Amino acid sequence: MKIEIKNLIKEYTQGDQTFRAVNDVSFSISNGDFFCVTGRSGSGKSTLLNIIAGLTLPTSGNVLLDGQEIFALPDEAISLYRNAKIGCVPQQYSLLSDLTVLDNIRLPFYLAKRDGDSEKEAQRLMALVGIEKLAARMPKRLSGGQVKRVAIARAMINKPGILLADEPTGDLDAQTTEDIMKIFKKVADEGTAVIMVTHDLDTTEYANRRFEMNSGILSQK
Ligand SMILES: Nc1ncnc2c1ncn2[C@@H]1O[C@H](COP(=O)(O)OP(=O)(O)OP(=O)(O)O)[C@@H](O)[C@H]1O
Ligand SMILES: [Mg+2]
Repeated sequence: MKIEIKNLIKEYTQGDQTFRAVNDVSFSISNGDFFCVTGRSGSGKSTLLNIIAGLTLPTSGNVLLDGQEIFALPDEAISLYRNAKIGCVPQQYSLLSDLTVLDNIRLPFYLAKRDGDSEKEAQRLMALVGIEKLAARMPKRLSGGQVKRVAIARAMINKPGILLADEPTGDLDAQTTEDIMKIFKKVADEGTAVIMVTHDLDTTEYANRRFEMNSGILSQK
């Protein structure tokens, strides 16, 4: 699977001023790549991820999945792209509080209206992220690092072609951060492309390509 990001521009208007949160960004990512994006607060990193996730419509430009322009599709097909092809670990993640860890992880499987059962895959992913003993736990009894691990497993349940992670290690200790980077590396090695936004420079060494965002402009480091 190949994702091409072509000349993405996102303009926002504040008062009578229009500015570009994302300013002509282009790159390609394929199976097994692990990209990281650093950059100051407000430089457009989350906006870029949200466009790639099909959550935010770009002002111009497009995201191509195996040659197909995502934003040329009808809304319903964009939702399907998002649910079936993309896994997201958002900057602020809240699990559904009245579902167990296992059911939170399985939820996107049902949202994507898949046939069959997701329990085996959920168990494989819980083992991958090291939370196999927490299947029956309710989210309010998890630590911050455990919540992130559940969010990663949840993002992977539909075997997405691309995993988008927005500051996945934001408030975690060094050991948990290292564990999560190793998980992303494993996920990339299994064939999912990973794009991670991070403020933590120690985590960038796990990536195979590093980018920096400056006032909406993406450049390779
Ligand atoms: N819906 C919106 N309407 C107007 N402006 C927006 C909107 N969303 C984001 N912005 C602006 O676009 C710019 C980029 O925001 P974005 O959230 O992408 O930054 P970021 O790089 O993720 O920052 P951080 O590191 O703090 O998460 C900011 O100036 C922000 O205020
Ligand atoms: Mg952000």
